[in-house]
Order: sequence, then structure tokens, then C-alpha cells
Amino acid sequence: MITTVVDHPLAAQALTALRDETTTRATFRQAMDDLAGILVYEATRSLRTESFEVRTPLTTTTGVRVAESPMAVPVLRAGLGMLRGVLRLLPDAPTGFIGVARNEETLQPEPYMNSVPLDLGGRDVLVLDPMLATGGSLAHACALLHDRNPGRLTCVCVLAAPEGVKRLEVSGLVHELVVAAIDDHLNEMAYIVPGLGDAGDRLYGTA
Ligand code: PRP
Ligand code: URA
Repeated sequence: MITTVVDHPLAAQALTALRDETTTRATFRQAMDDLAGILVYEATRSLRTESFEVRTPLTTTTGVRVAESPMAVPVLRAGLGMLRGVLRLLPDAPTGFIGVARNEETLQPEPYMNSVPLDLGGRDVLVLDPMLATGGSLAHACALLHDRNPGRLTCVCVLAAPEGVKRLEVSGLVHELVVAAIDDHLNEMAYIVPGLGDAGDRLYGTA
């Protein structure tokens, strides 16, 4: 698995806003959206392109377009916070949804929805989830996708713990992990430290 930690001042600034406990929900959503755009820019660096002839006002020249958009698959709920930033750059990307909730006692992933087509026909997939903690949720999502004939699976995350990176790597299912930072460790509740707290709650919770 290729692991790409995106080192960019704008990514670091957006990540800092996400970490800050005083950040309002509106600013948190905006920072997640901004950061997702930066991360997907890196995650699509090796997309296949094709050439075609384009007319400028002066002459014709060779243009470039993406040969086939990858499918975007946000892992609900928190992955939804990244979707708009991804679709801004890939507006025609087909989108599937995987619902997985981590059981906070057992830490096991509990699946509750899957709208990914049965046969992806070899299409590449961007799996979106801001938090890679134990790795149980993303490993589960990638296993579901693996059964549906995908091309390369790229996981796009905001924060990872070393334990989660290892878990994805051992799964052997993931071509690349793109992440804004790999944090220090998981605490006794399996939260990423220093982290940003509970991403889904900060995006959508009622607290
Ligand atoms: C969070 C997060 C990941 C998962 C990470 O989701 O968005 O999906 O936990 O933990 P893991 O790597 O240990 O599996 P959560 O289950 O809290 O659901 P939510 O997105 O609905 O808040
Ligand atoms: N899920 C989160 O939202 N945050 C963590 O730190 C770990 C799991």
C-alpha cells in the first residue's frame, strides 16, 4: 500500500481548524470540505487521461481529459462531510454509499447500508472517511468493495492512527492511502490522539 501524507500549508491550516475544539459546526464543515478537495487532488494524481483535439479561439491543440472518473464512496456518516469537496473536482463521478457504525463497546464495525453497484466493472474507487482509527470500519468497507469487482481502491482520510494504517496495509486490499496526518496513538477508547474528536458528531451531532 502506498501511503501519502499530504504536506501542504493549506491542508495543515484546514486540519488545524478541524482539530480546534472551539471551531463552530459551520467552520468545521467548511474546513472538512476544503481539506477533502486538497486530499482528492493528491489521490487522483495517477488517474488515466486521454488526449483529444480542442479548438481555441486561435487554432487547434491537444487537450486532456480524465478517461474514467473514479467512483466516490463515502463511509456514512462522517465520510459525507468529504463528498462535496470531492465532487467539486470530479463532478461526474458516480457515487455509492456504505453505512458502517463502529460499536463503541466492542469497536467492531456494524454495517447498515450498501448502495455500491454489484459489478463495478474495474472502475477505480475513492473511499472517503475522515477517521482511520483501529481501521475496522475502512477495512470492512474495502472488503465489501473488493467483492464488487473494483479497480484500484484509494482510501482518502483526514487523520489516521498508526494502528489503522497497519490494518489497511495488512488487508492487502488498498492501493493507496491519502491522509492529511498520521497521529500519535489511540487512547483507551480507541480515539485518535491528538485527533479532532468524533468527526460524525462534530459534523452532524446534536450536542
Ligand atoms: C467513525 C469514523 C470512522 C470510524 C473509525 O465513524 O468516521 O468510520 O469511526 O473508527 P475505526 O477505524 O476504529 O473503525 P462512526 O462509527 O463513529 O460513525 P459516524 O460516522 O456515523 O459518526
Ligand atoms: N472515530 C472518530 O470520529 N474519531 C476518532 O478519533 C476515532 C473514531
